[in-house]
Amino acid sequence: MPALSTSQGTAASFLGLAANRFRRPTRVTLLLTLFFGFVAVRAFAQEKNPYAGDAKIAKVGEYQFRLNCAFCHGLGARGGGRGPDLTRAQKRHGNSDAEMFHNIHDGIPGTAMPAATNGGIGVGMSDEEIWQVVTYLRSVQVKAPAQPAGNPEHGKELFHGALACSTCHMIEGKGGRLGPDLSTVGASRSTEYLMESLRNPSRRLAQGIFEAMKEFPQEYESVLVVTAEGTKLSGVVLNQDQFTLQMLDAREQLHLFEKDKLRSFATRRESAMPAYDQKTLSDKDLQDLLAYLFEVGGK
Ligand code: HEC
Ligand code: HEC
Repeated sequence: MPALSTSQGTAASFLGLAANRFRRPTRVTLLLTLFFGFVAVRAFAQEKNPYAGDAKIAKVGEYQFRLNCAFCHGLGARGGGRGPDLTRAQKRHGNSDAEMFHNIHDGIPGTAMPAATNGGIGVGMSDEEIWQVVTYLRSVQVKAPAQPAGNPEHGKELFHGALACSTCHMIEGKGGRLGPDLSTVGASRSTEYLMESLRNPSRRLAQGIFEAMKEFPQEYESVLVVTAEGTKLSGVVLNQDQFTLQMLDAREQLHLFEKDKLRSFATRRESAMPAYDQKTLSDKDLQDLLAYLFEVGGK
């Protein structure tokens, strides 16, 4: 069989290879992260925020936040396209000042949250500047976290039943793989972003796999491929470079193509997810879905 209609076996071994190629640096990074994480925890776990409650410092911190963090966490820290709402009192990765400092100083491994030091964000922030930002975040923290009004039980039924979101999305190990795993999306995205993902999925595409390895993560673009034999396949792009294209088709079959062996291929910055308008998804059901995503994400 010519290389162009690569069998799943080859694709799988390619993935295996890719995984091997990534595994080593990942492990080294992980070890380094653990090591420095450990050192940082030791150095700061005892530390209190030197500026706690200082309104003037909170203003300075706000400036730092706009410069370094608003891009992902949104203006006012209420959540943006890429980072969660930081005004929620209940934080996922630790509520204490020391833990927040550590999360910002070193980033959160395995997530898109970069370290504010060592070139992770801009020119890098000093410890003083990080404490200023922590002071700012405390000043905008809401006392009673805004819970989505919806009913998570009903949201769960919709997700796995009537609306069949689970044909494309996995939550806690169950569901399809065409779209991203949504187990933690409720914790890592803002409410506005999630609403827009449903009402207008193509406006901002989810970021795909290998996020940590690539400077620019692969987005979940849609792709239409016509093989040399004339077979048409549509699905999402998993990864691509100059010569090869890795995709998942609508039936979740993995394919690896050499681009120059294809009759044609076209990627579109358009979501493979249907847009849910008021007719297919009422505002009330949307709230229920969000409540479910928040509940799962909070675990
Ligand atoms: C490239 C995008 C990006 C930038 C820039 C960024 N963050 Fe984050 N941040 C994230 C994401 C994504 C998460 C959620 C990680 C997760 O739980 O999956 C996060 C999580 C956090 C958390 C932990 C929240 C919790 O619930 O425990 C804190 C605190 C935080 N960020 C503060 C900051 C600060 C302060 C800055 C600026 C110095 C910053 N972030 C810059 C993407 C970003
Ligand atoms: C036909 C497959 C399909 C169905 C059905 C589907 N989605 Fe999606 N979804 C996708 C794909 C592909 C993406 C990634 C591209 C994008 O961001 O739109 C996505 C993205 C998302 C995102 C953004 C995730 C992120 O990390 O940015 C959310 C949230 C989401 N879907 C929720 C849902 C919910 C809730 C339902 C059911 C009402 C649903 N989806 C139904 C395929 C689907």
